[in-house]
Amino acid sequence: MEEKFVIHGGRPLKGEVSVGGAKNAAVAILPATLLAADIFTIENVPHIDDVVILLNILNRLGAKIRFLDRTTVVIDTRAVNHGNVRINLAKRLRASYYFVGALLGRFKDTGVYLPGGCDIGSRPIDLHLKGLHALGAEVDTDYGVFHAKAEKLTGCEIYFDQVSVGATINIMLSAVLAEGSTTLINAAKEPHVVDVANFLNQMGARIRGVGTDTIRIHGVQNLHGCNYSIIPDQIEAGTLMIAAAATKGDVLIKNIVPMHMDALTAKMVEMGAEIQEFDDSIRVRNSSRLKAANIKTYPYPGFPTDLQQPATVLLSTAKGASVIVENIFEARFKHIEEIRRMGAHVTVDDRIAVVQGVERLTGAQVKASDLRAGAALIIAGLMAEGTTEIYNIKYVDRGYDHIEDKLISLGADISRVPVEEEPFELDLDFQ
Ligand code: EPZ
Repeated sequence: MEEKFVIHGGRPLKGEVSVGGAKNAAVAILPATLLAADIFTIENVPHIDDVVILLNILNRLGAKIRFLDRTTVVIDTRAVNHGNVRINLAKRLRASYYFVGALLGRFKDTGVYLPGGCDIGSRPIDLHLKGLHALGAEVDTDYGVFHAKAEKLTGCEIYFDQVSVGATINIMLSAVLAEGSTTLINAAKEPHVVDVANFLNQMGARIRGVGTDTIRIHGVQNLHGCNYSIIPDQIEAGTLMIAAAATKGDVLIKNIVPMHMDALTAKMVEMGAEIQEFDDSIRVRNSSRLKAANIKTYPYPGFPTDLQQPATVLLSTAKGASVIVENIFEARFKHIEEIRRMGAHVTVDDRIAVVQGVERLTGAQVKASDLRAGAALIIAGLMAEGTTEIYNIKYVDRGYDHIEDKLISLGADISRVPVEEEPFELDLDFQ
């Protein structure tokens, strides 16, 4: 049954809120358990739809899954004995391609339905194919299946001509069990890439240099289970920071790594928000109209593309004009059509958006086109005068664990209600 968010805006968010585990680390760490036949206890697993889908796929492959609590899961992979992931569930999320890296590493033969994922651009996988091929695998994507097969995997030097989170992680997943050493050059440095490497090292892998643009992996014979706790979600933290400032609130965002937020923190301070950093939390306050600022998205430690959409909304009522350049994806401005319905003045030309700040947004019926566009529209609804209804919130549930509960605890007036099919009756009946 479809649901929508109904938000009565204009209420400042106040109080304290904790951030959950990082989605983009979890969606790689769960498939990575297939690199060993053993038992894992993983904490701080975000309870989001993408994770539930991946756990179901693991279960269908023969892994035993047990939740110790809402965010702690025990995974026993000892019964998994093949790499065939031609499971329809795999088509529902982009991160399915991590099963290729992990199962090629473990069984040297795998096939996974090509991934789906948010519609924010073409999202090719050429860098994944090139890297796995360099390790010695035969790869193809015939019949909608990502195949990879190898007699053996041999370490080598791989240069990424574009920084890619997914390709960096996927090649790492295979290289840890390759013979010899692999060097990844121009590798992604996102916190979730570091977290996946730390998880693999906890399993007995030998990865050095992660977090820099050159990662060295010394292949090992086999890996083992481990206990692990996933890092806090940088993007959920950023979403909440932006929501606090957008509603002229005062919020302490807890269980985060402040350093991971540096690009956003600097930009929000430039806009006039008051930000205090503590060991594992950040306090965001704002009591006046923010100033315009320019944003260009870049790989970490640059401004994260996943926060571009929420930040566009924050800028929509700032004083002055802001220029936003989306350098990572070619179609990540779909939320702008929707916030225009709420009174935003934004022009878009290819990868550049110019936001003319308006006094206020007004509530409207809008629809999410992807995960972070949905988050952006929630923020728009929280700051707008009047009522906003957000449709297609299934996208939001892929990456946020009941975000409305966290917002309600901060004083927001937001509810999740079923969408009634409005009877479509024609007033005119042509004879
Ligand atoms: C990951 O996607 C994240 N998803 C995205 O988050 C995030 O926006 C993105 O990294 C950038 O940080 C997950 O981790 C599951 P990329 P990914 O490979 O790995 C091009 C969210 O909202 N490219 O770093 O797909 C690509 O088209 C999601 O949580 C190639 O050309 O991103 C893009 O322009 C949305 N060939 C650029 O590289 C390839 O083989 C960066 O993509 C791979 C990527």
